[in-house]
Amino acid sequence: MNLYDSERLYKSLSGQYEPTSSEEEADLILYNTCSVRGKSEQKIRSTLGEIKDLKKKKPHLVIGVGGCVATQEGKKLLNKVSHLDLVFGVDQIEEILLLIEKAKKKERLSQISFKEEYSFYATNTIVDNKNFSKVSSYVSIIQGCEKPCTFCIVPTTRGFEKSRNPQEVINEIQSLVDAGTKEIILLGQNVNAYRTKNTSFEDLITLIEKKVTGLKRLRYITSHPNDVSKEIVQIHKESSLLAKHIHMPIQAGSTRILKRMARLYSKEEYLEKVESIRSQVKNISISSDIIVGFPGERDVDFEETLDVVRKNQFDQVYAFKYSPRPGTPSKEKLNDDIPEEVKDERLQKVLDVVDQVMLQGNKLYEGKEVEVLVEGASKTNPHMLTGRTSNNRIINFPGDISLKGELLPIQIKKALVYSLEGSLS
Ligand code: 5AD
Ligand code: SF4
Repeated sequence: MNLYDSERLYKSLSGQYEPTSSEEEADLILYNTCSVRGKSEQKIRSTLGEIKDLKKKKPHLVIGVGGCVATQEGKKLLNKVSHLDLVFGVDQIEEILLLIEKAKKKERLSQISFKEEYSFYATNTIVDNKNFSKVSSYVSIIQGCEKPCTFCIVPTTRGFEKSRNPQEVINEIQSLVDAGTKEIILLGQNVNAYRTKNTSFEDLITLIEKKVTGLKRLRYITSHPNDVSKEIVQIHKESSLLAKHIHMPIQAGSTRILKRMARLYSKEEYLEKVESIRSQVKNISISSDIIVGFPGERDVDFEETLDVVRKNQFDQVYAFKYSPRPGTPSKEKLNDDIPEEVKDERLQKVLDVVDQVMLQGNKLYEGKEVEVLVEGASKTNPHMLTGRTSNNRIINFPGDISLKGELLPIQIKKALVYSLEGSLS
């Protein structure tokens, strides 16, 4: 979501500002921030410290901070960071030029407010530099979240759920596709809670499939497991456009911890859902997020998490150490009682099991042919191309860059932990 918002920011600035190759050359520096975990918040604090001298050398430089840390801190951030000119919220992206003008007039300002509607004009320019991929583009469809997860700061920083008008979404997708995008990733903190007066999430997917021409693949992230409906599973089964992948974070394997997290499902309910999806949709990938070291997590609880990862054979897992976030129920009501070393140890154990499971899963593809949407040159080897299968496996293979954007059959030669190597069939 931050990448997408940065792209919107970039678009809002275009015509007035041009990108520079280094901070030293810039007259304007905007940081788009995340505050979902403490680590990302610390990052912006240290980065702001690092550019203090730059502002001294170049007093006309305007420095702004937007996104979730900005929304969370507001004016306090201006008080804490004396060389900061502007703090803006997640709903102020389209007004950025106006805010910069005000800040230039030496009015240090903080503008944080939630708009009633989540609606914006998205231009059809695609930013194709190192940060933004052209073959695959994000389109946000819903902002905010109304789930009660006790660890999560998103309901505070992104507010209530607000869904974009379906026609606006379709227009944005069509303009991206017309400009060369092949794959769209629909975004939302809880994307499948999307709902407007007449359109459900499932309706939106069906509408996109019917109305957009030239799109090769459609994905969406992230889903709360309880909002994964029977209807969407059916669409995954039948649609040739919708990718065979659902990211549905379990967060923890112990029902006791899930209750403390207020995730609204038990381990058994989650596993039943996964089994049902897998039995209906051939080759579908299910990926997950996991938090280790949540308050009160005993060894036996953590073992259950490991057990779920082992048995459930997730196709991909992102694991994090619990990080108490300001204003969240878990920070206010529960003691962050798991020592840092134990969190570290548990994180490492989960990651080790995830690696084993992913390698095992990837090995099943050796010798098989898969269909890959080519995203571009591999970052590590410019002679190799990289792309993804519908079920979100990363495939690297030798080929010419002119194949970028094509859907190609690839013969898999070798499985690695995070990717597969192959060659054109
Ligand atoms: N501590 C650690 N991880 C968190 N996440 C969200 N809030 C926290 C927190 N307070 C993780 C969850 C979520 C992902 C985006 O970030 O796993 O799914
Ligand atoms: Fe946060 Fe996701 Fe829970 Fe919403 S569903 S509160 S975004 S973890």
